[in-house]
Amino acid sequence: MRKKRKVSHVCLLLLALLHIGTPSSAQNTTTVSTSTTSALNSTALSYRTRPVDVEVAVGEPAEFRCGVPETSPNLTFTFYGSHGNYSLTCPHGHVEDIPEALYGSCYMKDGESLAVWTLRGTSFPDNGTSVICQQSKNPDAAAAVLHVYDNGASYSVLIGCVIGGFFGILLVFGLLYAVLYRSESFWKCFGGSETEDDMTTIVTKD
Ligand SMILES: *[C@@H]1O[C@H](CO)[C@@H](O)[C@H](O)[C@H]1NC(C)=O
Ligand SMILES: *[C@@H]1O[C@H](CO)[C@@H](O)[C@H](O)[C@H]1NC(C)=O
Ligand SMILES: *[C@@H]1O[C@H](CO)[C@@H](O)[C@H](O)[C@H]1NC(C)=O
Ligand SMILES: *[C@@H]1O[C@H](CO)[C@@H](O)[C@H](O)[C@H]1NC(C)=O
Ligand SMILES: *[C@@H]1O[C@H](CO)[C@@H](O)[C@H](O)[C@H]1NC(C)=O
Repeated sequence: MRKKRKVSHVCLLLLALLHIGTPSSAQNTTTVSTSTTSALNSTALSYRTRPVDVEVAVGEPAEFRCGVPETSPNLTFTFYGSHGNYSLTCPHGHVEDIPEALYGSCYMKDGESLAVWTLRGTSFPDNGTSVICQQSKNPDAAAAVLHVYDNGASYSVLIGCVIGGFFGILLVFGLLYAVLYRSESFWKCFGGSETEDDMTTIVTKD
């Protein structure tokens, strides 16, 4: 009886060892299988069009694009701007805000699911605006920045405004002076006669 028990104990121990051994091998096989599937899906989980940094002169339009394969078309393209933050979710999203200024839309083109942000006219506060593209289930996010630079035109406009404003103010003051001067001489004529009248009336009263 005792021997049998001992044997069964040994058997149990062996079984336990086997059980400990088997999960590790199973784990290895599972890791291998997951790595192969991720390798297979890596083509689906990738950006076909990554957003690129955009540099425009102030006043010019700007556009950001992000595209993923049609086979896994879900993506979120977020706009972090001076006007606020907007999130565009493709393939079926659509955003239009700040009427006629900022526009976000989705397209399906050549097996690609595209998200596009369009700024119809840039201004200096838009400098530093960033976009972040995030494909669903993809840990990798793609980002880009907008740089708005000053071209000569805006300087000449500024100088023109300053000079125009200076001469405009000069003109206004000139006119004001002329009007005041005229009215003063006008009042002098009137005033003089009036005081004289008063004097005469005072004299007569006395
Ligand atoms: C499991 O994989 C690791 C490395 O990935 C390896 O060192 C180990 O020998 C493997 N174990 C078995 C039981 O295959
Ligand atoms: C990865 O691809 C396989 C077949 O290629 C598919 O069965 C599986 O659902 C995909 N996994 C993900 C997370 O898309
Ligand atoms: C994509 O999004 C839609 C709705 O937003 C959802 O029904 C669908 O399951 C998503 N597909 C994937 C692959 O995540
Ligand atoms: C936009 O997002 C940025 C970064 O997450 C945050 O700092 C900022 O306050 C947000 N702006 C608005 C208007 O929500
Ligand atoms: C735009 O921002 C960058 C830094 O983000 C700065 O170096 C540059 O001078 C800015 N340009 C204008 C025109 O403000």
